[in-house]
Amino acid sequence: MSGWGGGYVTDVTYMVGYYRYQSPSMMTLACQLSGVASPMPGPQDPVSYLELGCGQGLGALILAASNPRWTVTAIDFHPAHIATARDWAAAAGIDNISFIEADLATLAEDAAAAAIPCADFVSLHGVWSWVPQVVRAGIVRLLGAKVRPGGVVHISYNALPAWGGVLGLQRLVRDCGRRLAMRSDRQAEEGMKLAHELLTAEAMHLKRSPLAVSLIERTGGQAASYLAHEYMNESFAPCFHADVAGALADAKLDWVGAGSLIENFPELTLSPEQRTVMHRLDDPVLRELVKDVCLERALRHDVFVRGARHVGAAARSAALLDVHLALSIRPQDMPYEADVPAGRAALNRSFYGPIAAAMTGGPQRVGDLLAIPDLEGRRDNPAELIGMLVGLQLAEPAIRPSAAPSPEAQRLNHVTLTQLSRTETLGRPVAAASHALGAGAPCTVFDLYVIDRLLAGEDETLMDDWVRALGADLDDASRGRLREALIRSQQTRLPILRAQGVF
Ligand SMILES: C[S@@+](CC[C@H](N)C(=O)[O-])C[C@H]1O[C@@H](n2cnc3c(N)ncnc32)[C@H](O)[C@@H]1O
Repeated sequence: MSGWGGGYVTDVTYMVGYYRYQSPSMMTLACQLSGVASPMPGPQDPVSYLELGCGQGLGALILAASNPRWTVTAIDFHPAHIATARDWAAAAGIDNISFIEADLATLAEDAAAAAIPCADFVSLHGVWSWVPQVVRAGIVRLLGAKVRPGGVVHISYNALPAWGGVLGLQRLVRDCGRRLAMRSDRQAEEGMKLAHELLTAEAMHLKRSPLAVSLIERTGGQAASYLAHEYMNESFAPCFHADVAGALADAKLDWVGAGSLIENFPELTLSPEQRTVMHRLDDPVLRELVKDVCLERALRHDVFVRGARHVGAAARSAALLDVHLALSIRPQDMPYEADVPAGRAALNRSFYGPIAAAMTGGPQRVGDLLAIPDLEGRRDNPAELIGMLVGLQLAEPAIRPSAAPSPEAQRLNHVTLTQLSRTETLGRPVAAASHALGAGAPCTVFDLYVIDRLLAGEDETLMDDWVRALGADLDDASRGRLREALIRSQQTRLPILRAQGVF
């Protein structure tokens, strides 16, 4: 690890990823569900978006390519991250994005900050609880200077008390790993191996934390670069929600709700007895503490607004009725039961079935969905419909429901495929830029490949060629499975991605 990182991992770059909580439409939904005024960005609005600690920048690139009229600025202090992100933007011809190499500890006071546009939306994913206090303080000063009045901020962090039971694991992985290897990704792997052995040997403080056990058991499927950035930082410190809210208050930011939309519904989150206790408290921050004590909420996504304006029930409902949603599953795959933090939730078949069917061809307005004749269920509760469909990842919000795919988004999707197919497995979840959604549409590298071939003018009659191209090193049985997966992608995933405006 070099000196310039201030104890943050710098010898290994972070993995590439897309996280839907970072999109302005998701942040807006969190505000609207919480009864806070925040208009959904309009199709032509020149939104200014800022990402702090952007890594290799795929999330910011997808938002820029999906919204060519937006101005996107993304900042990271790792020069390799910024160089890769700039190359990626140049290869795709995305020119409404600037990547800035800067240290968040001091950027607010740096001359470079003057050139950063004030932001309507800001996101920091995976930064706050991993960086030293001096960086957190710099972030607050930057937010104080750069968030517009009414602007929205998304922040994620490892949260207490859920992470409390894992502090021993993190310390073990970091301190022992450092003695066992040189580079931080190898250190994290070695530290995790040791933790695995200790778990097998029934180490008390590993085996009695379900979170620690699942983190250790999941290690095999996780990128070594993820492990390095998760476990090896010097100043890693999970936080209580109240302390994050207190720190951001210095930037005049008010906490409005959870980015994980389901968590804004107490009846889906807590038992009746837990709700009774929570409702004895008026302070929303203390209510979150009660939730955090009741739930295994290890990674929090929170949404803040600079100057929250609370609206009445009618205005909240009107805003939610105007939201457009695009289905992320086939209507026949609609689940009528789902896991939520409070247990199993039922989704009424006579309500959600017709709604899913009506969304087959493309995004629909929530108000129109609730007006479908003969629905059996509550037509007066747009919040619940949005909470269930978007919160359970069955649908995505769409800010340009009838827009055709933009050339910028299609170019980026081609470049994303080219880049990721060199390093990732075909089944790796990622996202495709979509002008209609104004955000990423969830997909895999595999889906990007099939779309890319179709856009190149090929069709499924060339399936054997695709299998040969993708499965050059595979045996016959594996190629057979690859062929089946291609057919499945064509038949099940592509209609959804087409309806979400990806191609
Ligand atoms: C865990 S990664 C998350 C990256 C990205 N947000 C994502 O979720 O894929 C944290 C990022 O913060 C950056 N970072 C850490 N300390 C920083 C600092 N002082 N100034 C700017 N960036 C920093 C790291 O280089 C890294 O890319």
